[in-house]
Amino acid sequence: MDRLRIVVIGAAAGGGFPQWNCGKGVSIRFWRGDDNVTARTQSSIIASVDGEQWLLLNASPDIRHQIMSTPVLHPRQGERHSPISAVLVTNGDIDHIAGLLTLRERQPFTLFATSAVHDVLARNAIFDALDRSTVERRTLTLEGVFETGFGIGFEIFPVPGKVPLFMEEGEPEIGAETETTVGVRLFGPSGESAFYVPGCARLSPALRNRLANAEVVLFDGTLWADDEMLTAGVGQKTGQRMGHMSMVGPDGSIAAFRDLNVRRKIFVHINNTNPVLIENSAERRQAVAAGWEIAEDGMEVRL
Ligand code: MLT
Ligand code: MN
Repeated sequence: MDRLRIVVIGAAAGGGFPQWNCGKGVSIRFWRGDDNVTARTQSSIIASVDGEQWLLLNASPDIRHQIMSTPVLHPRQGERHSPISAVLVTNGDIDHIAGLLTLRERQPFTLFATSAVHDVLARNAIFDALDRSTVERRTLTLEGVFETGFGIGFEIFPVPGKVPLFMEEGEPEIGAETETTVGVRLFGPSGESAFYVPGCARLSPALRNRLANAEVVLFDGTLWADDEMLTAGVGQKTGQRMGHMSMVGPDGSIAAFRDLNVRRKIFVHINNTNPVLIENSAERRQAVAAGWEIAEDGMEVRL
């Protein structure tokens, strides 16, 4: 029987790597042609069992480029066709929803999200470009297993997060476990499963229990250090303020996963300031030595 497979089509965080307007830090290495860094597009993965029908998890602003560089996503039959049969959005951030606008042109697919994320889309009328009679919007709840109808089942769960940046009013609450930011567990037909958590402010006890002993976890790899945007001189915010736990430090993901017995730990949603993007960096070696893989665009994970 076919089993679940996943392709990381965009391994970078919002902005991508390099970021279009960044002439510092890690991005400048790319602009200068440094062989130790590889460009990455914005945050998205795809999953399939039969290789014909795919679930897109997050629709990034780079989706058109991602489709072009991913042959299994090319249209194959008839005048209008796409192997993207369903889209699941894990939060309302721009890097995860803006690509929905590219998926217009009267192409039917199912759009799965929580009511909180559907509200973000409904409040922004531009998303009405996805005609509701063509794109069915299905509301997910935090309980139960949902079926795509093409071999993949999934459940969602709350992850410590915050409202999208463009909807912040004053100081947002950070780290609430609500429907605003969710993680996903994908199931294949033989019970094989993988977790996808591209944004996470902290590993709560509930989340630790859920992820323990997993086969595969694709996890928030935004920042190496909480203050890295400040020290790089490219921003005023800490990782915590952005709703992302960093890799190092006592509350970082490397320490938090140390005893979780996860077979494959893969960092995705990697920010353009993160030194793990540099192949020969001490930080990359440290993450790899701790058992982590650093995703690149096109990376395939077979379960
Ligand atoms: C995030 O992951 O924190 C967001 O994508 C930030 C943003 O919207 O630029
Ligand atoms: Mn993001």
